[in-house]
Amino acid sequence: MASMPAFLLVLLPILLYMDSAAAQSRGGFGFKATLTHVDAHAGYTKAQLLSRAVARSKARVAALQSLATAADAITAARILMRFSEGEYLMDVGIGTPPRYFSAMIDTGSDLIWTQCAPCLLCVEQPTPYFEPVKSPSYATLPCSSPMCDALYSPLCFQNVCVYQAFYGDSASTAGVLANETFTFGTNATRVAVPKVTFGCGNMNAGTLFNGSGMVGFGRGPLSLVSQLGSPRFSYCLTSFMSPATTRLYFGPYATLNSTNTSSSGPVQSTPFIVNPALPTMYFLNMTGISVAGDLLPIDPSVFAINDDDGTGGVIIDSGSTVTFLAQPAYAMVQEAFVAWVGLPRVNATPTDIFDTCFKWPPPPRRMVTLPELVLHFDGADMELPLENYMVMDGTGNLCLAMLPSDDGSIIGSFQHQNFHVLYDLENSLLSFVPAPCNLI
Ligand SMILES: *[C@@H]1O[C@H](CO)[C@@H](O)[C@H](O)[C@H]1NC(C)=O
Ligand SMILES: *[C@@H]1O[C@H](CO)[C@@H](O)[C@H](O)[C@H]1NC(C)=O
Ligand SMILES: *[C@@H]1O[C@H](CO)[C@@H](O)[C@H](O)[C@H]1NC(C)=O
Ligand SMILES: *[C@@H]1O[C@H](CO)[C@@H](O)[C@H](O)[C@H]1NC(C)=O
Ligand SMILES: *[C@@H]1O[C@H](CO)[C@@H](O)[C@H](O)[C@H]1NC(C)=O
Ligand SMILES: *[C@@H]1O[C@H](CO)[C@@H](O)[C@H](O)[C@H]1NC(C)=O
Repeated sequence: MASMPAFLLVLLPILLYMDSAAAQSRGGFGFKATLTHVDAHAGYTKAQLLSRAVARSKARVAALQSLATAADAITAARILMRFSEGEYLMDVGIGTPPRYFSAMIDTGSDLIWTQCAPCLLCVEQPTPYFEPVKSPSYATLPCSSPMCDALYSPLCFQNVCVYQAFYGDSASTAGVLANETFTFGTNATRVAVPKVTFGCGNMNAGTLFNGSGMVGFGRGPLSLVSQLGSPRFSYCLTSFMSPATTRLYFGPYATLNSTNTSSSGPVQSTPFIVNPALPTMYFLNMTGISVAGDLLPIDPSVFAINDDDGTGGVIIDSGSTVTFLAQPAYAMVQEAFVAWVGLPRVNATPTDIFDTCFKWPPPPRRMVTLPELVLHFDGADMELPLENYMVMDGTGNLCLAMLPSDDGSIIGSFQHQNFHVLYDLENSLLSFVPAPCNLI
């Protein structure tokens, strides 16, 4: 035993050196990836795509409403995973040598996880389950590790950190928290990153989406963004209805400089704000909405985070399709559209996707007046192109692609199609610029 301290002294500098080397290699880490829409290649009509996406978004906003006020960590974790159904999949390689699987990316949660063999319980997935025993770079984390502490509801089993996460009412994943080498990016920018902390799930139940795991892009310590030295990413979502693939840029590749701004207007930036009740999510300071050039008289408190319980506020979210506006704001936008759109209003039935819809005139064609829509944030104005807020529903009515929310507001992905959007965590800024996303 007497030799122990000397042994530790020799070992410590080596460990410290290795850690700083890993940190350095992570500092310059980056990749480019392509994202696939979850319903791509399934042969849905445009109207079906829209109604499926809206159904997922509704589940998400319902979850958000109860999340901030969840009574305990387990309830919060349950709701959080429910919230994370998501819209976009990314190919990720895991282990040595890498085995590829398709993961749901999610700006609303942090954990990275996939199903692992041997399964006590697994759900069918498109690719084989990851087998840790076949990968020499796999290492489980002890219960004392900081990453274990960062879990919502960590458990400890034989000094191995166990995570559990709940997905929807009936689906869940649980297993071991571990480090592993992950490979990200398309060919030219492919990069293997050692010691990425993830959940290796060998107890999974319920219906998962058509993927094999998730990659959290939230602001918490367990997310991919936080784990890798260069905490920034950007995406440019192609038109929702188009099959063109969407690009995701990570680390040094995430920059709006290369976007041709001479044709599309300047880059605009607005600070993220922190909601202590939901520190993972990207809250924005929304200051108002203009319809047809008129700033609507919305009370600023409608978009504010409620200091008492963390409800309310406005988040930007890649996993929600349409935008949900807090009810008083939605009512004013709806009123302005009814006043400005030169078409008869359609009374919505409960089965309709949207409830601000107008009867599209029968032929012969005539000019229809549609108002401009601008979302105002602290320091930035998002002038939406028409196709980002007006859609044809399944019955041929023209609808406002927004819905009311009883609590907070969500800026959904439909509203930021064909914007290149940069999440810069280092400077706590969201930047965006209109861009032809199919061309970049
Ligand atoms: C790029 O990677 C894909 C697999 O992701 C592979 O099928 C393809 O052959 C690669 N292309 C090149 C040029 O290496
Ligand atoms: C897991 O990875 C983290 C982050 O790189 C590192 O700090 C930690 O020492 C690793 N733990 C093990 C057991 O490999
Ligand atoms: C998976 O994809 C199939 C079509 O490829 C679709 O019918 C099914 O609904 C999808 N499942 C989920 C959970 O999205
Ligand atoms: C690109 O923009 C970033 C800030 O977003 C800046 O730090 C960097 O210097 C710019 N790069 C070039 C090549 O202009
Ligand atoms: C940027 O867009 C403008 C207007 O469309 C075009 O004239 C110019 O050539 C483009 N520049 C680059 C570098 O693509
Ligand atoms: C939001 O922006 C407004 C206008 O710039 C500013 O007065 C207010 O303090 C900001 N609120 C927060 C929470 O940052």
